[in-house]
Amino acid sequence: MTGEGETRKGRKPWKIPLFDLSLGEEEKEAVAKVLSSGWLTLGDETYAFEEEFARYVGTRYALFFSSGTAALHVAYIATGIGRRKKVLVPSYTFISTVTPIIWCGGEIVFGEIEGEHNLNLSPEEVERKDVDFVVFVPIAGFMDGIDEIKRLSEEKGITLIEDCSHAHGSVYKGKRCGQFGKAGVYSLYSNKNITTGEGGMLVTNDEEIYRRAKLLRSHGMTRLAYDRYLAGAGYYDIEEVGFNYRATEMQAALGRVQLKKLDFYNEKRRVLVKHYRELLKKLSSVKIPFTEYKESANYIFPILVPEGERDKVVAAFVEKEIQTSWHYRPVHTFRVIRRITGEISLPLTEKIAFREITLPLYPGMDVQAVEEIVNVLQNLF
Ligand SMILES: Cc1ncc(COP(=O)(O)O)c(C=O)c1O
Repeated sequence: MTGEGETRKGRKPWKIPLFDLSLGEEEKEAVAKVLSSGWLTLGDETYAFEEEFARYVGTRYALFFSSGTAALHVAYIATGIGRRKKVLVPSYTFISTVTPIIWCGGEIVFGEIEGEHNLNLSPEEVERKDVDFVVFVPIAGFMDGIDEIKRLSEEKGITLIEDCSHAHGSVYKGKRCGQFGKAGVYSLYSNKNITTGEGGMLVTNDEEIYRRAKLLRSHGMTRLAYDRYLAGAGYYDIEEVGFNYRATEMQAALGRVQLKKLDFYNEKRRVLVKHYRELLKKLSSVKIPFTEYKESANYIFPILVPEGERDKVVAAFVEKEIQTSWHYRPVHTFRVIRRITGEISLPLTEKIAFREITLPLYPGMDVQAVEEIVNVLQNLF
C-alpha cells in the first residue's frame, strides 16, 4: 500500500501523484484487533486516542469526531457562535471552515490574507473589523500571524478559534496549533499529515467547551451506550439538541498508530520541502509563500507562478503525468456563498489565489521526484 499509488484497477493514474497514503502493517493489525474486540464505536480506543492526541498537542482535552467539518461545527456552537454573531474568516481556505458558520446562523465576515509571503489571514483585519469571533487557518502548516491575532483578539474581546487542519505537528513560538484559541480543530481526512480515513479532533483547554462539545457529539445524551454497557442498565437524559458526529473504534485505532508516526512523517516532508526550496531558489519567477521553519507541518507545498500563467503551468505538469492541485479557490467566489454574502471583493486574495499551484508532497515521495517536478518549471521559466 505504502507509496504505491495503485488504484483499485491496478493502474497508476499519475506518474507522480499529489499525495499518497503512508500506511503499514501496524495500522492493519490495530484495526483488525478492534474488529475482533466486540465493540466498534466510541469506547476505549477512542478515549485512548483522545488522551494521546491531547497530550501531543498540549491541551487539556481532545474529542474525536466523524470529520473535521463535524468537529468545527461543534467547536463553533460550543464557543458561542449563533444567530447574528459576526465571524471573521479568511476566504483563502477550504469551504468547510466557513459552512458550519452558516449552519450556526452566524454572519460571515471575510478577511484578506497578509500577502504573497504569508497566505494566512492578515492580523490587520482583526484590528479593522468589528466582529465577535475570528477563525485562524495556518495554510500549509505555517502559523505566521497567530500571536498577533491572539493579542489583538484578546484586546478586542474577540473569541479566537483555530482550524488546524493543515498543521498536525506545527509548533509556533513553542506552542502547537490548537493552544492559541478557545478551541482548535484538526481534520483527519485521508490526505492529511495523519489520517483516520475520515475524522476530526477538537482540542481545548476549556472545561465547559469540552463538556458541551462532548454532549453535542452524541445526541446531547448524558450517558452513552458504552457507559451503559459497562454499568449495566442505566437511564439517560438529553441536555442539548445534538448530533451523531461520532467516529468508530477502528478509526481511533488507526489514528493512534498514525499519531505515533507523525513526527517521523513530518521530518520526511521537511527534507522534501528543503530540497524543493533549494532548487526553486534559482527560478525568480516562481515564488514560495512563507519563510521555511523547522516546526511547520508542511501539509502542502504551494508555489505562486506569474499572473496569467497558472493554466499553462498546470497543463505542462499534466503532460508529464504529474498531479497538481489548487489551494484554494477563494470561498467568497463560490456561487452559494455569493448568494449568502452578496458580491464581495478581496483583491489581494483573488490575485494571489489565481497564481497558486500545489505541488506533490507526501512522506513516501523521493527527492528524484522533486527534481523531476522542478525540471518542468525550469523548462517553462
Ligand atoms: C482548512 C480545512 N478545514 C476544514 C477541513 C474539513 O475537514 P474534513 O474533510 O475532515 O471534514 C479541511 C479538510 O480538507 C481543511 O483543509
